Order: sequence, then structure tokens, then C-alpha cells
Amino acid sequence: MLPGDSTELRKARGAYFTPMAIAEHLAEWAIKDDPDASIMDPTCGDGVFLLAAHRRLSELGHISSGETIPNVYGVDLHGASLDEAGRLLAAEDYRANLIESDFFALPTPDVPESPVPLVDAVVGNPPFIRYQEHVGNSRRLSVEAALRQGVRLSGLASSWAASLAHSAGFLKPGGRLAMVLPAELLTVGYAEPVRAWLKSRFEKVNLVLFEKLQFEDALADVVLLLAEGEGGCESFSVWHVRDAEDLAQIKPYMHLNVTPPSQGKWTDLLVPASARAVYRDVLRDHFVSLSSFGSLELGAVTGANSFFVISEETRLHYSLSESQLERVSPPGTKHLRRPRFTSKDWQALRRSGERVWLFRPSQNDLSTSRAAYTDLGESLRVHLGYKCQLRSPWWRPPSAPVPDLFFTYMSHNYPRLIANQAKVGALNSMHGLKLHVELPSTVLEALPYLSLNSATMLGAEINGRSYGGGVLKMEPREAATLPLPSVDVLERAWTLVKPLRAAMDRDLALGKWTEVAKRIDQAVLIEGAGLPADDVARLLEAARSLRRRRMTRAE
Ligand SMILES: C[S@@+](CC[C@H](N)C(=O)[O-])C[C@H]1O[C@@H](n2cnc3c(N)ncnc32)[C@H](O)[C@@H]1O
Repeated sequence: MLPGDSTELRKARGAYFTPMAIAEHLAEWAIKDDPDASIMDPTCGDGVFLLAAHRRLSELGHISSGETIPNVYGVDLHGASLDEAGRLLAAEDYRANLIESDFFALPTPDVPESPVPLVDAVVGNPPFIRYQEHVGNSRRLSVEAALRQGVRLSGLASSWAASLAHSAGFLKPGGRLAMVLPAELLTVGYAEPVRAWLKSRFEKVNLVLFEKLQFEDALADVVLLLAEGEGGCESFSVWHVRDAEDLAQIKPYMHLNVTPPSQGKWTDLLVPASARAVYRDVLRDHFVSLSSFGSLELGAVTGANSFFVISEETRLHYSLSESQLERVSPPGTKHLRRPRFTSKDWQALRRSGERVWLFRPSQNDLSTSRAAYTDLGESLRVHLGYKCQLRSPWWRPPSAPVPDLFFTYMSHNYPRLIANQAKVGALNSMHGLKLHVELPSTVLEALPYLSLNSATMLGAEINGRSYGGGVLKMEPREAATLPLPSVDVLERAWTLVKPLRAAMDRDLALGKWTEVAKRIDQAVLIEGAGLPADDVARLLEAARSLRRRRMTRAE
């Protein structure tokens, strides 16, 4: 830590330092074999990339003539870091042009007063400052700078996105850009314009993903971007390595065709190529989407669950009759631990005081019980809520649909299907699945268990959205794409696991779902779909690694 610096200050300017092995790898690739290449690091900190660049240039036989400073440029807004960079370079008898500036205020070389010329290579590790802290003038300049490169960033963009785009404005035609970026480049919504721009801006794009976290002081997972040329590309090369030491194995970068989708997230690029091939094949040959089993619907939105969803005690207190109410699964999903929800379960919740009734009298209910309860609502100002004001009478919420299965769309581990044997209504804490009528009756019972296979779980990670705190969320549109075993695989697998139901229920109740998932993989993927055990292990590992990534992502 430099004198006067602190962890807080470093965090505020997104200062995390790149391991030398990564800096060397990127510098080497970007410089290629040109001893006279010009290089810039737009946010150089204490100069690890500059040092790596210098080492590479001298290895290639670069001869610096006397007092002239080589064509190596380092920019940073933190003067003390630049001084440190100068010392680091001087210790190896090197020098560079060090410029103290906000990079976003630094004009690109097409502007006459730019202190940096067009360069052959841009290398670096831009600051990762989230939108909440990336504010003020620097943010305004960053948004404008990115726009000049054709990237329109939203208010949610972290600072790295604009640094990347602005950096490209310093490249000679055909130049190379090699950067350390947060892996959320591939997945988050605000990076969508960056992803689209990468495809249209560069001729070749290589991405390197790590199995192990590379930065001890930053929680965020990183990806290396190595991009060159101009004019756009159809596909990328994606590499998976364990750690920085493995980088040496992947040069020179050959083309490994991976075509990213033209829109949306690139989460499936996070899946190693071997698992991706298995996943695609198994989906094509043995799986179908959730939507082919039935239609997904949203649970009822009452506008005020605390008033409209009531317990047995409240029902009795206001003398409300069953005809004024609907039976529902209580708000939340805590009570849905098992693969099915039965009438007995519902009755038990009713007895234990859970809110199992939806208040929904008929339009023309003039009873005193109805009036007493709605008077209570008015005294609590429930009728002034947004949803209540939109309907008349305010006290009659929409009916809760009764799905065949509940679908928990916010989850830590994986989304679950639960057979709604109690035939109660769904509130908006879950989605509902209404099965198509022509399906065999086994489907209802089998789906909640058989969806615990690794291909489905990997599909959930790929198609869902991950939020802070590791939560995986699937909107109906995303849930509809969840891959599930086709009916014939499902029936074959179900005959194998049906006798084990009681044991699996016990394991699930104890939270031992990985045990259950192993059995289900055996039945669905090995016996049902005929996959070799190695392929199943690849799917399992890919699902786990995406889950780990999601859980450890800082937000
Ligand atoms: C992730 S660190 C990288 C440091 C160094 N390049 C490395 O890889 O070890 C990001 C650096 O960006 C600098 N920085 C943050 N915002 C900046 C800005 N707007 N303009 C220039 N530098 C900035 C910080 O001072 C910090 O040194």
C-alpha cells in the first residue's frame, strides 16, 4: 500500500492489481513480435502492464535510442500510483510516458491535442466501479466517450464498460486490445451494448475464462478479452483455463468457433466447450422445453397480500365463509420443500396459523362480514394502493389460478417444480404450470423429481438471471425455455426412480438434494438418455461451476 493510500480509496477508484502472469500474457499477445510496437495502458496503476510490455519489447530486441522515451504510455488519475509505476520501471532501467489524467477526459488521437498517438496495442485492467459510485463528471465524460465509439451505455453500467469502449478509440487500424474485464461482461443486461459492439467492432475476439478466482482482493470473477482487427466477426474463440499458469498452453490463439447469440446474455460461453457440446446434443436428442409440457402463468397479484391473504384465525374473527374466500398456497415458498403439496399439507398450514385464504367475495356481496373486513382495509388505507385503485370494487382481487404444478422462480440452488395435489391457488410468489391435457398422468408426479437432473440445472443457470446475493430468477419467458427430459425419457426414468420416492423425499426434507440429483442423473441421463458417465460428469460440473459463479458474484 502506498503512503496516504487506503483500502477504501483503492476500492473507490477500482484499484485491483493484476497478477504478473496475466499482465505478461496479455502484453505478449498484444505486442505480437513487433519490437517497435506502441502500447498504451489507459488505467495503468503502478504499472504492471507497462513493465510486462517493456520486458516483451526488449525480448524482441527493441533498442531505445538515448534519451527518447519509448512509445509506451500509461494513464492513471492517481498520481502516487504513477510515481510508483515510474520507480518500478526505473528499477529495470525502463521508462514510459506517464500521464496523470482521468482517462475519460483524455481525447482520442483524432483530436489534435491528444497526448497519446494511435497505438498498436492497448493493454490493461480497467477499474471496476459500480454505477452507484461511478458518478459525477467522470461518469458523464465516460458515457460520452463510449458513445463516440458507438456504445450507448445505460445508467446501470459499471466504469469498466466505458473504459473498454474508449480504449478502442486509441487503436491503429488492425491494432490489438487485451484486457482483464469482469466476467459479468458476458451476462449482465447493461453490458448488452458492449457485447453487440465487440461483435461489430473487431474481426477476431478471444475470451479466456478461469475456473479459479484470479484476484484475491476482488471478489469479482474475471474474463480476459483479446480482440484484434476491425469490421466485425460472427464467432468468438472461448478458452477455459484453471488459472493464470495455464495461460501459456493456449497460445497461439487458434480459432475455436463459438457463435454468441446476436442478442441477450452469453452465459453459455461460461460453460467449457466439452460440456457445451454434450449439453447441446442431449437437449437436441432427449430434452424438450418446459413450455411443451404446459403453459406458464403468473400467480395472482392482489396489490396487498398482507390484507387479502388471511389466516384461519382472521377468517373466524370476521366470520367470513368459505364462499367469500379461495384456498391458496401461502405467500412465499418456504412451505414448499417437498416435490408435492397435498391437501393434508394445506390443512396443516391452516391449523398452524399460516395465511391460506385469499379474501375474494363476489362483486355483489352485501354481507356484514364482508363490510366489516373491507372497513378494516379502508382504515388501513389498503384501498388507496395502486392495484386496488385500478379495480372496482377495490376489495375484489383477481382469482388465484390453480396450476397443476408450482414453479419457484426465485431460488438459491435451483428452480423447483412442485405438484399441486392440494389444487389450491397460486399467488405471485411463484409461477404456475398448467399441463397440456394430452400428457400421460405420470408427468405430474415425475416432473418435480426428474427436473433435478444436471442438464435441467445447467439450463436454469444458462437461461435464468442472476441477481445480487446469488439468487437465480426465471421470469415466465425464461422458465418456458427450461430444458426437461422428453416424455419417453421421462417415462423410462420414472419407472426406475418411482420406487425410491420415499427415500428421496426424506433426503430432500433434510436438504440433501445433491444425493437425490445423483440418482436422478443416473435415471434420466444415463439410463433414460443413454449418456456415458463422463458426459454426465461434465454436465454436473458445468452446472456446479455456473452456480458457484452466481453465488460468489459480488453485487
Ligand atoms: C484495476 S486497477 C488496475 C491497475 C493496474 N493496471 C493493474 O492491472 O495492476 C484500475 C486503475 O484504474 C485507475 N482509475 C480509476 N478510474 C480511472 C479513470 N477514470 N481514469 C484513469 N484511471 C483510473 C485506478 O487508479 C487504478 O490504478
